[in-house]
Amino acid sequence: MTDQTGVLADVRRGMIPAHVYNDREIFELEKERVFSRAWVFVGHESEIAQPGDYVVRRVLQDSFIVTRDEQGEIRAHFNMCLHRGMQVCRAEMGNASHFRCPYHGWSYRNDGRIVGLPFHQDAYGGEAGFKRNGQRLLPAPNLATYNGLIFVSLDPDAPPLEEFLGDFRFYLDY
Ligand code: FES
Repeated sequence: MTDQTGVLADVRRGMIPAHVYNDREIFELEKERVFSRAWVFVGHESEIAQPGDYVVRRVLQDSFIVTRDEQGEIRAHFNMCLHRGMQVCRAEMGNASHFRCPYHGWSYRNDGRIVGLPFHQDAYGGEAGFKRNGQRLLPAPNLATYNGLIFVSLDPDAPPLEEFLGDFRFYLDY
């Protein structure tokens, strides 16, 4: 069991013990208390300067497609097909107007809206069996930018990004 009090004392002295980087117990605490609540930096607007540009980034176990859609809006979608959860984007970065799931071929615009659902009628019973209209890749629970820096939060009730950044904004402004 990790001596958390000892770790904290070391950190307060300005010393970060190397073992914390490989400590499962501390990682579990970080997942619960930090990464599931905090705003996490996932990219810079300059990486997705043109409509269709995207990068794929992870927050904990979740993969996100961070993209600029055809209207120029920045979006972050869970990289997860609505059908069986397959990753719809397998590249690390690129430019695409659509993402097509390699499993059964469902496809999505880069704004997340579903556009292609092969054999919708025969395999799923059409709109009555599986409603296609209005379906879209799941968006990140929260997305915001500051000075071109793109952040997501897994917490739908996260405080506004600027409030979260607080005085640290000084350094980002600088
Ligand atoms: S899992 Fe994506 S189309 Fe089936």
